[in-house]
Amino acid sequence: MSSFSKAGHVVSLLNKSDFKILKVFASSLKNHQFLNLSTLSQYSNLGQSLVKHHLERLVKFGLIGKSNLGFTLLVTGLDIYVLKILANRNVIDAIGPQIGIGKEAEVFLARNSLNHDKIVKLFRIGRSSFKQIKRKRDMSSGSSTWLILNIETAKKEYDILKYLRNSSISFPNPLYRSFHCIVMEPIYGTRLSEVVNLDNPQSILEKIIESMRIAYHKGYINGDLNEYNIVVNDDNIFILDWPQAVRTDTINAEEVLMRDVRNILKFFSRKFNIERDIGKTIDIIKKSESQISDGLNSTNF
Ligand SMILES: Nc1ncnc2c1ncn2[C@@H]1O[C@H](COP(=O)(O)OP(=O)(O)O)[C@@H](O)[C@H]1O
Ligand SMILES: [Mg+2]
Repeated sequence: MSSFSKAGHVVSLLNKSDFKILKVFASSLKNHQFLNLSTLSQYSNLGQSLVKHHLERLVKFGLIGKSNLGFTLLVTGLDIYVLKILANRNVIDAIGPQIGIGKEAEVFLARNSLNHDKIVKLFRIGRSSFKQIKRKRDMSSGSSTWLILNIETAKKEYDILKYLRNSSISFPNPLYRSFHCIVMEPIYGTRLSEVVNLDNPQSILEKIIESMRIAYHKGYINGDLNEYNIVVNDDNIFILDWPQAVRTDTINAEEVLMRDVRNILKFFSRKFNIERDIGKTIDIIKKSESQISDGLNSTNF
């Protein structure tokens, strides 16, 4: 069972004081890897024996880890806490099947109280390397460093999406962020990697390039652009997955842009026999709106 499906089940078993204690852990992540009984009692306003009782439950459910350094919040603990926040704030009401599992995130279909579909993306950056570290060092390193990295990454993607979405609907529409989780509007369609045939592959490629151009002029390059992060629906394209995006003014921006363009052109060449020059494509992406319309005007005459 994935961490979040387990969260969906366990959330119903927890009571108010369990959540109060989870909240103390979540809000002190940045400052404390481990918490002891007296700190927890102080922050939660619950007596030590009550805290002990709830901690035992949270440890049993696999939400809190225990070591000789103290108690620490585990990934499932933060998943549960986030799920509760999303429900309390009426962002989502129910969590459904997992629809995507990548190296960096687990993605679920969810519903709000009006029965509208939503997407829940939970960050799992560096999951495999973290597991190795954890195995080697047991609990002594805690999981908070890893959780903080995932929270910061979720925040980065949320901010970029909010900013990009103003300019084009070809980027996901972010609705809410809490800790390591982003809630978005769903994008319906097929991942480019799974598309068997396209009516007009040339026009789809043009649209991808146009979206890259829009993002570039807003100051961003996706940095992980490939057929797995593009969704196609009829004539529309959507570019997902922006946590690794780089600013166009960073030192290696040119290299990153070149890699993204090369990935896409390679895919269209392999699958649809469309050949396009990398350099010329990069020139188009760097052209502003007015330079493009100037170009159009001159070819019209
Ligand atoms: N807004 C969305 N609507 C529909 N499906 C999505 C959405 N966001 C992500 N997905 C699905 O989840 C998969 C993984 O999401 P992605 O953002 O690419 O994360 P990562 O690849 O880092 O795990 C995507 O390939 C896509 O199938
Ligand atoms: Mg992806």
